[in-house]
Amino acid sequence: MTSFLLQGDIEEIVANMSIGSLSEFGGKHILLTGGRGFLGRYFTAVFQHLNLKLLKDNPVRLTVMDNLISAGPEGAQIPTIDHITFLQHDCIKPLPDIGKVDFILHAAGIASPAHYRKYPLETLEVATTGLKNSLELARQNPGCRIAFFSSSEIYGDPDKLNIPTRESYRGNVACLGPRACYDMSKRLGETLVQIYHQQYGVHGTIIRPFNVYGPGMQKTDYRVLPNFGARLMEGKSLQIYGHGDQTRTFCYVTDAIGGFLRVLMEGVPGEPYNIGNPAPEISMKALAVEVARALGRDKVDFDVVDYPDTYPADEPNRRCPDISKAAQQLGYAPRVGLEDGLKRFFDWAQVAFV
Ligand SMILES: NC(=O)c1ccc[n+]([C@@H]2O[C@H](COP(=O)([O-])OP(=O)(O)OC[C@H]3O[C@@H](n4cnc5c(N)ncnc54)[C@H](O)[C@@H]3O)[C@@H](O)[C@H]2O)c1
Repeated sequence: MTSFLLQGDIEEIVANMSIGSLSEFGGKHILLTGGRGFLGRYFTAVFQHLNLKLLKDNPVRLTVMDNLISAGPEGAQIPTIDHITFLQHDCIKPLPDIGKVDFILHAAGIASPAHYRKYPLETLEVATTGLKNSLELARQNPGCRIAFFSSSEIYGDPDKLNIPTRESYRGNVACLGPRACYDMSKRLGETLVQIYHQQYGVHGTIIRPFNVYGPGMQKTDYRVLPNFGARLMEGKSLQIYGHGDQTRTFCYVTDAIGGFLRVLMEGVPGEPYNIGNPAPEISMKALAVEVARALGRDKVDFDVVDYPDTYPADEPNRRCPDISKAAQQLGYAPRVGLEDGLKRFFDWAQVAFV
């Protein structure tokens, strides 16, 4: 199961959580939509690890649902694991009967910009119709907690007064444009979570992840770090789209998964939480310099190029989360710095991306 992930990372995620909150999963049934994607495979590995170590006598049961639309070759290799069931199903369609459910992680989505450019309608529907199916299931299971994976993209292109960006920022988003299928549908998804909470008392929370990265990303993911990794392994110069001064922050996956589980377990229903690592906010050109450092090289060559047709332009100029809400309410605190995280990712990619 963890062949594409690092076992040490899975142990680190569990070690950074409180035993009390993890024990709450004992004997429970979790639905994980999008479970064969990058983040989904981490959740699966974490629950597998919990069953082997902490919950041996009272294992958690996990149903992993995915239609494999963007799961890639790694995602399509379905492992057989005790207490974990895989269902190949499109969550936009009515959900099959899977019995009583205690938690839902609605992680199904088409997250990579290159993929959502290819599948705009599927991208829009998984965050709206697909989410509504998951919310209905939560509604039919009193006490069920559901977390929706929204995105930092719901903020669009914030002005400089709103960087770092707090959850209360309303956003600066185009409803017509190359990214609208993703960011507008995530915004509508958030509204759905809040309506289901207010109208039906569904315990739904909203996660806004900010650029999560780590081992296990696909070579063909097209998000910036796997894209850099893939080109490096092919001996090519890096490509930076646009002007290269656009900034992002990067959150190592172990920190992010811990934050997501905290939102699911302890988040206030109806509320959104930024989960990311606010430092450093780094330009794409400066990121290329950090990548060289992680590889132990003096420099890596890069070219600043126009957006290819396969990649949606109109990207935010800056993106950086204010994480004080998750810190104060959930005790969320990212621990893995960029230098350490890039080294872990590229050490892994140099083997996995050959
Ligand atoms: N990783 C990040 O940095 C990040 C940032 C912001 C938001 N998110 C959100 O978090 C979630 C998980 O992200 P990820 O990085 O694992 O993405 P991913 O693309 O690696 O995985 C998503 C999975 O969802 C599946 N899927 C898509 N549509 C589906 C459908 N209709 N029915 C069933 N399965 C479907 C895909 O096949 C894929 O396996 C996504 O919703 C994404 O939008 C992630």
